[in-house]
Amino acid sequence: MRHDIPYASCPTPSSIKFPNQSAILSFFTIFAVLKMITPMLDLTYTKLHDENRQGEAFAPLLEDIQVTGKKFYIESYGCQMNFADSEIVASILHDNGFGATRNYEEADLVLLNTCSIREKAEQTVRSRLHIFRQLKRSRPSLLIGVLGCMAERLKSKFLEEEKLVDLVVGPDAYRTLPVLIEEAEGGQKGVNVLLSREETYADIAPIRLDSNGVTAFVSIMRGCNNMCSFCVVPFTRGRERSRDAISIVKECETLFSQGFREVTLLGQNVDSYCWFKSDSEKELNQADSVSTGEGRGNAVTFAMLLESVARISPALRVRFSTSHPKDITDEVLHTMSRYENICKYIHLPVQSGSNRILQLMNRTYTREWYMARIKRIREIIPDCGISSDIITGFCSETPGDHADTMQLMQDARYDMSYMFFYSERPGTPAAKKYRDDIPEETKRKRLDEIVKLQNSISRESNKKDIGKIFKVLIEGDSKRSAADWRGRNTQNKVVVFPKKGFDFCKGDYAFVKINNCTGATLIGEALTMTNAPTVEMEVSDTYKL
Ligand code: 5AD
Ligand code: SF4
Repeated sequence: MRHDIPYASCPTPSSIKFPNQSAILSFFTIFAVLKMITPMLDLTYTKLHDENRQGEAFAPLLEDIQVTGKKFYIESYGCQMNFADSEIVASILHDNGFGATRNYEEADLVLLNTCSIREKAEQTVRSRLHIFRQLKRSRPSLLIGVLGCMAERLKSKFLEEEKLVDLVVGPDAYRTLPVLIEEAEGGQKGVNVLLSREETYADIAPIRLDSNGVTAFVSIMRGCNNMCSFCVVPFTRGRERSRDAISIVKECETLFSQGFREVTLLGQNVDSYCWFKSDSEKELNQADSVSTGEGRGNAVTFAMLLESVARISPALRVRFSTSHPKDITDEVLHTMSRYENICKYIHLPVQSGSNRILQLMNRTYTREWYMARIKRIREIIPDCGISSDIITGFCSETPGDHADTMQLMQDARYDMSYMFFYSERPGTPAAKKYRDDIPEETKRKRLDEIVKLQNSISRESNKKDIGKIFKVLIEGDSKRSAADWRGRNTQNKVVVFPKKGFDFCKGDYAFVKINNCTGATLIGEALTMTNAPTVEMEVSDTYKL
């Protein structure tokens, strides 16, 4: 299929220019992003955390959703999945007569959507709850609720011991919110922290909160079965389940028709996405896999889902997160390379470069296996950006293990990494089996070393991008100046360029030549239409839902 180029003009058209990336960007190398690598060493948040968004109060994208009725206020913490959950909660509350507000002082219902992955989040939530509690003194009808990952673990603490909240609702129980609110209004405590094997909220259309109107997150699965020994997610979010593929594609189509130009498909482990069109197919497949030893015969796999979303429109970019090194398939990589609009960026957390530590972490791969996957990615998608998560100071980590991690970073040459020091989470296999025996000082020192190393690798990669041309999806004004646009290239790198002389809008694609860079941003200038590359895109017909 051939797409003529054209600079998109306002309002964003559905026909958009497409570069033939192999032709235009073949010499592009992976890009360095240092967003999370700050001098601050308290980096124990999840990879999908955007530190700028922690505790963000949401407001609806559209004009208010309800003018009469009661108002809710929601603050979200943690990973992008949690932020996406807040949009589901907003939708459920909206259907029950609640409108959103950014001002908690005017709210009838205050909700905190919490994260458990790091210890600090718990303290933050507790101090927020004390502030809201004071408000309740002057307004006793105000209801306060805790949602998300902390709900199960701390329900008795919040409800009974500290009497801080009226509602405690776990991540699989949001449909029961209206009933629980009613109970709480009647003076009872509204609690539901049951985890489910089926809930995916497939039929609930999230209300986009605080959106830039260009990029959106779409949950494709929930929970995790991996049991990495350090991780609390399998306990707080339950068993892995995949959402109905048809509802995912529909949601992405709706987003595209509303003007969104990028969707990020979210799951703790997207490569194990697996959905059956019917229960009978599921049963058949289970029976087959028992008899043949093979799985997924009749299933929609992640590669198939990715292809279906990519086919919505060449003008819709598709991203995904997170991939697990043990599960990422060549099929996914080939699908990425076939579709120009599937972004060339993979977040592939390694966690450690030491085989001994990887085994203690129950990651089920070795550093050799991991490096072979990196090699394969680069063979199939030469211009792919790759990032990682790394934990330092895990139980019993020796200086030699730490050196192995540093060496792996040198070999993998990540464009960016999210780096954490190990923080023991109650109830996890590591907390039960191993001693958290690395002194905090050592953890911080090692973290400092890997941050510095990543900084230099990223900077090197950044510099290599000077002189290149990238296709950039414009997300809005640059943070520093309204005279500049800010967007991202396919490798997920932030690109800033002056607006002057061009007629671009948010949601347009521009070709930008990079002239300079900072640690975290590429700085360039847009090419005029006559200078912009001509584009050609192959779209295969291999899979249709
Ligand atoms: N301590 C430090 N980092 C952790 N992560 C998960 N659990 C912990 C923990 N207990 C990091 C991992 C994971 C990311 C989501 O958060 O690197 O990939
Ligand atoms: Fe946690 Fe491992 Fe699952 Fe990621 S894959 S959510 S680190 S258990």
